[in-house]
Amino acid sequence: MKKIILDCDPGMDDSMALVMAVKSSEIDLLAVTAVHGNYPVSITSANVLKTLGMLGRTDIPAAKGMEMPMVRTSPSDPFSHGSDGQAEANLPLPDKPLHDKHAVNLIIDLVKQHPGEISFAATGPLSNLAMALRIAPEILPLIKDVTAISGAFGLNKYAFLNATGDTPQSEWNVYVDPEAAKIVYESGIPFTAIGLDTATSFDVDFSESDIADFEASPNREAKFLSNAIQFVRRRGYDAYCTCIDCMAVAYLIEPSIITTEQALVGVEIKDGLTLGMTVRDGRHHHTWEQLPRISIAVSADYQRFLALLKNLVLA
Ligand code: BDR
Ligand code: CA
Repeated sequence: MKKIILDCDPGMDDSMALVMAVKSSEIDLLAVTAVHGNYPVSITSANVLKTLGMLGRTDIPAAKGMEMPMVRTSPSDPFSHGSDGQAEANLPLPDKPLHDKHAVNLIIDLVKQHPGEISFAATGPLSNLAMALRIAPEILPLIKDVTAISGAFGLNKYAFLNATGDTPQSEWNVYVDPEAAKIVYESGIPFTAIGLDTATSFDVDFSESDIADFEASPNREAKFLSNAIQFVRRRGYDAYCTCIDCMAVAYLIEPSIITTEQALVGVEIKDGLTLGMTVRDGRHHHTWEQLPRISIAVSADYQRFLALLKNLVLA
């Protein structure tokens, strides 16, 4: 079993990523750390608890993290996940409180307790991880790897067609806290960025019979997903929006679902038109070797991804 910390900003798709992480027999979920992003951290941390409550797994530690980006104020999300951040699922808040440690401190402590063993699935802005690296740089070589929903690399039409940040070519998690992204990209920790190119394909879709299966299931998480799909469709969006973040967890469960390649990538931190862009140097000459070399997702097997997601939701 892989030891994982899920760092997230639920968000309906973060909630579904959490469902997958909790239900997969491949994952030992050590903690869930919430960060600002889709909503203020008071809401995202409550949504972590609500999702764990839905799954009957409030034994898993849930901690509240950074309220703000490293140096900026948090922008408001132009794509709404509904008034509750969970597609109006209105899940009850369980009795279990949040962990008494701040998420950043919990991350530092867990990494020190399990040196070289923890993989991060990061599905929100990277503020918690970046702050942990700033406060306790000694944890850097102790982190096994990070897989993040992060960036847009211009590999295909989905990279920018479905751009989620509030500039033409940025992805939301990087756009919200570009300085944090820069710190983590440049850290040297083995880093896999699953960008919009692969995580927002229209091939990630559900049939009427899938939805009927979700509705017929006794599992509350199946109804949660069905409700989210109908919520986004009613508002003119496509069903992939409900499970963008699931790709990071799917990759940790079944790495062969996603094909990656190495790339030199810089994060744009200047305000204006290009804020939050993840600029890939794909030139065959004069390349900027000083840019961080990371793994980026270049394609995904969507049939296997959807099969994994559906199996876990219905299990
Ligand atoms: C990211 O933006 C958020 O709205 C989603 O939860 C996902 O993490 C995609 O750009
Ligand atoms: Ca997210």
